[in-house]
Amino acid sequence: MSDLYPVTHLTQRGDALYLEEAALNDVARAFGTPVYVYSKAALQDAWSAWEYPENERQIHVCYAVKACSNLSILRLFAERGAFFDTVSEGEIARVLAVGVPANRIVFSGVAKSEREIEFALTQGIFCFNVESVPELQRIHAIASRLDKRAPISLRVNPDVDAKTHPYISTGLKANKFGISHTDALAVYQQAAQLSGLEIIGIDYHIGSQITELSPFLDAQNRLFDLVKQLADVGIVLKHIDLGGGLGVRYQDETPPLPSALIEQSLQGLREAGLTQDLMFEPGRSLVANACVLLTKVEYLKPTEEKNFCIVDAGMNDLLRPSLYEAWMGVENCTVRDANAAQTYDVVGPVCETSDWLARERTLAVAQGDVLAVLSAGAYGFSMASNYNTRARAAEVLVDGSEVCVIRRREVLSDLWALEL
Ligand code: LLP
Repeated sequence: MSDLYPVTHLTQRGDALYLEEAALNDVARAFGTPVYVYSKAALQDAWSAWEYPENERQIHVCYAVKACSNLSILRLFAERGAFFDTVSEGEIARVLAVGVPANRIVFSGVAKSEREIEFALTQGIFCFNVESVPELQRIHAIASRLDKRAPISLRVNPDVDAKTHPYISTGLKANKFGISHTDALAVYQQAAQLSGLEIIGIDYHIGSQITELSPFLDAQNRLFDLVKQLADVGIVLKHIDLGGGLGVRYQDETPPLPSALIEQSLQGLREAGLTQDLMFEPGRSLVANACVLLTKVEYLKPTEEKNFCIVDAGMNDLLRPSLYEAWMGVENCTVRDANAAQTYDVVGPVCETSDWLARERTLAVAQGDVLAVLSAGAYGFSMASNYNTRARAAEVLVDGSEVCVIRRREVLSDLWALEL
């Protein structure tokens, strides 16, 4: 039954939806709505899909914390041996808070502040993924002052089209990310002159929700050539980090499996005669399809133009549809007679016309029903806000028939706790 839905371990039994052994209507009753519900088994399965048999070189999977940064989920991956890709002092601190050694942390991002660099250096992270020449100089200066050497990789922008939504495409010349492929060799040579730096790797990240192998392979080939050119001038790297970006199924996409991406990358490395360790930075593919967002139908509102299904989760809870016009599956947790179905726009309570979760969907639904927004684990809770002074949802984790809270729902006093 599971393959009815993109979400792993989501099944229909009788007229009810279950995540693992937990009936979703019961979860909504017990914990309230909106609530993010994660499946532990689905998270484990997603991690396993990235595990690759022993190889002649090390392969490190760095979970991109931004996709879903809940401590319980970080811990689950940490226990499986994950490295972590972070983009702020906050993300680094979260990873450290679950007891992960700093030498399993990679620090990416275009705007690393002095304070963040000093924090990361003092902790002893694995690698700074550097995105510009001034950043390189800043890291060198801080490392020199602290009498340290900062391990660095340069994020190269390979100028390939990831064939994804423009807002989540990062590997084109026009994007703010990375150092251009054309300049990379010279910048490495410049870095090699800076005593506060230890060059250890090279990385790219070309975009997100990429559903074909070809953009990865194009980027990879360009990168491998560069690694050889670097070796020719005496700059020998220890690792190659091929970033994140592997897509998932939301609707009918058929993205490659992680094993296919790893296999192709290994083959490319072998053909290029390169022996470096390999790293990946998946976020979405580890968490998206391990979660549903439950939301209650407050009102059905037929109008001249449209039928609105007004629910209690809005763009502050789940921004992806508003921001990227992302398509996310919506199912009723009480499966009703399909003959009663109508076409609805599923919209939230926020005072914005862009506050919608799904458009033009055929749903058999009644006021008070609980809907499940599917594939909500990646960039769901982590992009939630308090807009309209709305408390952020709870997050719960299902393990078999047990359900436990992994982040309590915010209460109103939380919302102004920091205000004077
Ligand atoms: N590494 C770097 C340097 C990144 O910037 C990202 C994501 C990742 C890894 C993980 O990429 P993933 O495997 O998750 O595709 N909020 C958007 C996605 C933004 C992705 C930002 N960078 C969305 O909801 O679609």
